[in-house]
Amino acid sequence: MVSETLSYPKIIDAYDATKFKQRAEQVVAVLADYLSKVDELPVLKWQDPQQAIESWRQDFSEGNQDLESLVKKFIEESNHLHSPRYAGHQVTTPIPTAALAELAYSFLNSPSTIYEMGPASYGIEQAIVCWLAEKLYIDTDKAGAVLTSGGSLGNLTALLAARQTKAGYDVWNEGVKDDLAIMVSDQNHYSVTRAAHVMGLGSKSIYFVPSDENFKLKVDELEQVYQQTQADDKRVIAVCASACSTATGAYDDLNSIADFCEANDLWLHVDGAHGASVALSERYKHLIAGINRADSVVWDAHKMMAIPSLITAVIYKNRSESYATFSQDASYLLDQNSIERDTCNRTVECTKPNMAMKLYLSLAIHGEEFFSDYIDATHDLAKDFAKLIQEQTDFELAIEPESNIVCFRYSPKELYSVQNKLNTVQLNSLQVKIRESIIKSGEFYFVKTDLRGKTYLRVSLMNPLTKIEDLQKLLELIRNVEY
Ligand SMILES: Cc1ncc(COP(=O)(O)O)c(C=O)c1O
Repeated sequence: MVSETLSYPKIIDAYDATKFKQRAEQVVAVLADYLSKVDELPVLKWQDPQQAIESWRQDFSEGNQDLESLVKKFIEESNHLHSPRYAGHQVTTPIPTAALAELAYSFLNSPSTIYEMGPASYGIEQAIVCWLAEKLYIDTDKAGAVLTSGGSLGNLTALLAARQTKAGYDVWNEGVKDDLAIMVSDQNHYSVTRAAHVMGLGSKSIYFVPSDENFKLKVDELEQVYQQTQADDKRVIAVCASACSTATGAYDDLNSIADFCEANDLWLHVDGAHGASVALSERYKHLIAGINRADSVVWDAHKMMAIPSLITAVIYKNRSESYATFSQDASYLLDQNSIERDTCNRTVECTKPNMAMKLYLSLAIHGEEFFSDYIDATHDLAKDFAKLIQEQTDFELAIEPESNIVCFRYSPKELYSVQNKLNTVQLNSLQVKIRESIIKSGEFYFVKTDLRGKTYLRVSLMNPLTKIEDLQKLLELIRNVEY
């Protein structure tokens, strides 16, 4: 309660419980109404970036604006991930319950990094990371895990641990020498190689392992690439595999890669940011067989677990390797007696939100079955969509999808006729034009990707309420684009 004797009316108003309740009810009512009508809205109200800035640069800092109108405007100018016609990047369609958890956390603002600062946040994070590790069959007696703000930071955090463990010297104190290297699939997400660059490994220290016709790391090329690192006098700190890759959703053969790493005493890092969630599905968990043998795994719940951004788990097979990385004295915060306990000893982050709360609450309310259904629904739909594409004569599928990501392109036969034959460049730019035209119309949202010189349209089927009929309509929209 704020004392009425305070002479700061703005402060009294801001912390007033009744006003908070009124404001919260207003916002929740607007969001619920939006959820009930989202199917009818354009997926995206297209505007130029400059227009978007102008739209929000009016006088907002004087206070007393109408909350309801502002939230409605925010909704109207957003990309609508709850629309069944959203199939763009790998950002999930959040379950509304998770947003309520975010509200509760933001209200209390008790971070999870230092136990005493947020005992509940700390406890919830530990419960969640153990639950996730167990889902991957990782031995939680030995394992350690920490949440980070996103998969990019997660990959960096894991590779820092790999470096400290496998460099053969104390990198943290001695600095990086130029003999360190990583081996990585040529289909890796850019955050993996970016992490290597951030760690001081230049381009010459990043060894790419080629992928096969299905965009999976070629296991039989591992030996040759490794031999090259040895010929170059490099010490490999990690082999990075994808589960699954971003562009096509292809899963690497983790068991075979783990065999190779074990035989050569190499750290295996699995970027499971998108795909580790298949662990929750009886039907799809075979895709990550062998993940329990990885030294580190990154798993984003804000991709395939319907939890709003961000929440990434970095899971280590051996707990001690997770805090050896960041060995620092800071007596005002870091307590040497609680190295194992406080998670700021395992991450770049100091103050860190309670990311786990939104997953914890969602599990507590909806149960694990929601999450396995989410995986099954989105993955089954991708298979159905691929089949539908294969049945068309004017569309091509890049590869049979293993995950909920489908890459395809429009290539009608008449464009191949002798007098009107489009070359590769023209066919590529056709895909770009198609996408631009459709996303600007607000009728569907999807992305594109380039695979070995060919441009493909790409859908990540993130919304479990998208139906095959929506995707049938997408094919029609594509056919009707004027080019
Ligand atoms: C395989 C993979 N790894 C890492 C990332 C980066 O995750 P974030 O966007 O949470 O930083 C992505 C993002 O799409 C991804 O697909």
